[in-house]
Amino acid sequence: LMAEKGGYKHFMLKEIFEQPRAVQDTIAGRLLEEQGDVRLEEMKLSDEQLRGIGRICIVACGTSWHSALVGKFLMEEHCRIPVEVDIASEFRYRNPVIDSKTLLLVISQSGETADTLAALREAKARGAVTAAICNVVDSSIAREAHGVLYTHAGPEIGVASTKAFVTQLVALYLFTIRLGRAVGTIDCEQGRTMIAGLLKVPALLEQALETNEQVERIARRYMNARDFLYLGRGMNYPIALEGALKLKEISYIHAEGYPAGEMKHGPIALIDEDMPVVVLVPKNSTYEKVLSNMEEVIARGGRVIAICSAGDEEIAKKAEVTLEVPTDGEELAPIILSVPLQLLAYHVAVLKGTDVDQPRNLAKSVTVE
Ligand code: G6P
Repeated sequence: LMAEKGGYKHFMLKEIFEQPRAVQDTIAGRLLEEQGDVRLEEMKLSDEQLRGIGRICIVACGTSWHSALVGKFLMEEHCRIPVEVDIASEFRYRNPVIDSKTLLLVISQSGETADTLAALREAKARGAVTAAICNVVDSSIAREAHGVLYTHAGPEIGVASTKAFVTQLVALYLFTIRLGRAVGTIDCEQGRTMIAGLLKVPALLEQALETNEQVERIARRYMNARDFLYLGRGMNYPIALEGALKLKEISYIHAEGYPAGEMKHGPIALIDEDMPVVVLVPKNSTYEKVLSNMEEVIARGGRVIAICSAGDEEIAKKAEVTLEVPTDGEELAPIILSVPLQLLAYHVAVLKGTDVDQPRNLAKSVTVE
C-alpha cells in the first residue's frame, strides 16, 4: 500500500504533491501558443455555437461547485456572458430558466454524482447545450453531456478532492480562453498572455509546495481550535470556501468560508483569541480592501494566519503567522493559494489522528440522492 501511495503517508498528500504534474497533463496538447488560442475539440462546440450562447449555467456539488464559482469570475470577466452558478441538488428542483441559448456546464470529478447527473438530464430535456468538465473518462456525466473537457488529473483516491479541484480551475481557464476567442472578447495577443501565465503554473505550484513543513508547524499551533474562519474576496472567496471545506471534511473542525467584505455583517461577532482566521490576501486589485478586513480582525483580538504573495513584508508585520506563496498575477492566484490550504487541512487532520483518506460519513462519489 505504501508503494501505491508513492512513498507518501496518505493518498491525499500524494495527490497534493502531484498537482504540478496534473496541471501539465490538463494543458498538454491543448495550447495553440502562436494563435493565442486553445483546442478543446472533445467539447464539440463550434465557434458558431459558442457565439450563440446567451447565458451560462454551471452546476456542480461540493468542491466542484467551488471551482464553478471561480469559473464565473473568469468567464464573465473575459467573455462578457452572464454566468450563473448553482448547486446541483438545488438546481434540479427549481424551475430553472433554460433555453437553447443556455450553455449548461456541469463539473464533476467522478462524473457519477447523482444530483449533478440529474441536473444535466433536466437541462438537456429543456433544450440546453450541455458540456461537462470531468476527471473520470467515460463516466456517466461525460457520456451524457454533448461535449466534455477532461481534466486528466489521474485517479484521485483521497475522499477530499485536491488535484481534481486544481485541474478543474485550469480547465475553466482553458475554456474561458476558447470561449473568449470564439466570441471575440479575447484577442490573439491577450490569448497569448493568458497562455503564458498558464504555462508558469506548474512551477509556481512546486514553489507553493515548499511551504509544507512550515504549514505543518502552523497546524501544530492551531490544531486545537474548535472553529476556523476563512476569508477571501473576489476569485479568492471560493478558495476560502474550499479551504474551510477541506478542514471540515478531514479534521472535523468546524470551519466557515466568508467573503472578507461581508464579515462585518455577522462573523465579526465571533472574533476572539480562540478562533483562527485564515485570510487570503495576495497582491491584487482588492489587496488594500482585504488588508483592512484583516486589520479589523486583529483589532478585535483575532489571530490571523495570512496567506499572501511572496515578499509581502507589510502582511508579515501584522499577521500572527504568514505563509508566502508565489501568486504571479491576479487570475491564476486562486490555483496557487489552494495549496497551503490543502496542506493545512491535511496536517491538522494527521495531528488529530483522523482517517485522512477516508473521513467518516463521507463518500468519494455520492451516487445516490
Ligand atoms: C463528494 C466528495 C467531494 C466532491 C463531491 C462532488 O462529496 O466527497 O470531494 O467534491 O462529492 O463530487 P464530483 O465527483 O461530482 O466532483
